[in-house]
Amino acid sequence: MLLEGLPYVLTPMTLDDVPFVAEIERRVFPSPWPATAFRYEIAQNAASRYLVLRYRPWIHRGVKARRRGLWQLLQRAPSDDPSLIGYGGFWLIVDEAHISTLAVRPEWRGRGLGELILSSLIAKALKEHAQLITLEVRASNVVAQNLYRKYGFRVVGRRKGYYSNNREDALIMSIERANELLYRQRFAELRAKLRARLLAQPNTPPEQLLETAGNGQGESHNH
Ligand SMILES: CC(C)(COP(=O)(O)OP(=O)(O)OC[C@H]1O[C@@H](n2cnc3c(N)ncnc32)[C@H](O)[C@@H]1OP(=O)(O)O)[C@@H](O)C(=O)NCCC(=O)NCCS
Repeated sequence: MLLEGLPYVLTPMTLDDVPFVAEIERRVFPSPWPATAFRYEIAQNAASRYLVLRYRPWIHRGVKARRRGLWQLLQRAPSDDPSLIGYGGFWLIVDEAHISTLAVRPEWRGRGLGELILSSLIAKALKEHAQLITLEVRASNVVAQNLYRKYGFRVVGRRKGYYSNNREDALIMSIERANELLYRQRFAELRAKLRARLLAQPNTPPEQLLETAGNGQGESHNH
């Protein structure tokens, strides 16, 4: 189990998560999906698979950690959910998984958690027998492209002027033959490395989040 002994939980996105997801979405993307789009995905789109990642320190450190850490955060920011680290999702159409979104709250970045969400989406897609895993990414979004390359995505095409806010091109990146042994072995190795990384790091809430929780101020990231 990738998350055993770690203070994170991954669960299917629910309607209760949507306001908090939409808040992160608004901070992270220049053309954010509205809450209604996420509600549609969860309640009406049978092809969609969405996950949320949360910080749950008490799962491995007990009630004391809950009182001192996250619980404090929640008290200070009732309209936000600072424990919600990020989310991602894909559409499964026959044997093709199309990753539609992936985001990590800015304060939690650089800890392997975007990778954790992506790898969990891929694991779910493989479990559901996807052969092709594909996505679009902004041509300028080098960080996300690096992550996708690490997991074996290759650029297979370009959509000119795909993004409506600035007419930026999208790169189409795909893993072909994802269900074959070769990819599965590589994927298992990446997961093992990710788990080792997560176990080795402190996994405490980001200082920045503790400082800003409750004042509604957040940096805005374009991708
Ligand atoms: C893309 C995103 C999900 C990555 O999340 P993250 O938690 O910061 O990334 P991780 O710490 O898991 O890093 C995983 C990999 O991403 C790449 N990466 C992460 N940060 C990077 C940086 N600052 N510069 C270059 N590459 C970076 C690396 O390949 C890294 O692997 P490594 O740690 O072995 O070098 C996050 O930056 C994000 O939410 N961005 C805004 C939304 C977005 O662009 N979504 C994708 C839309 S297609």
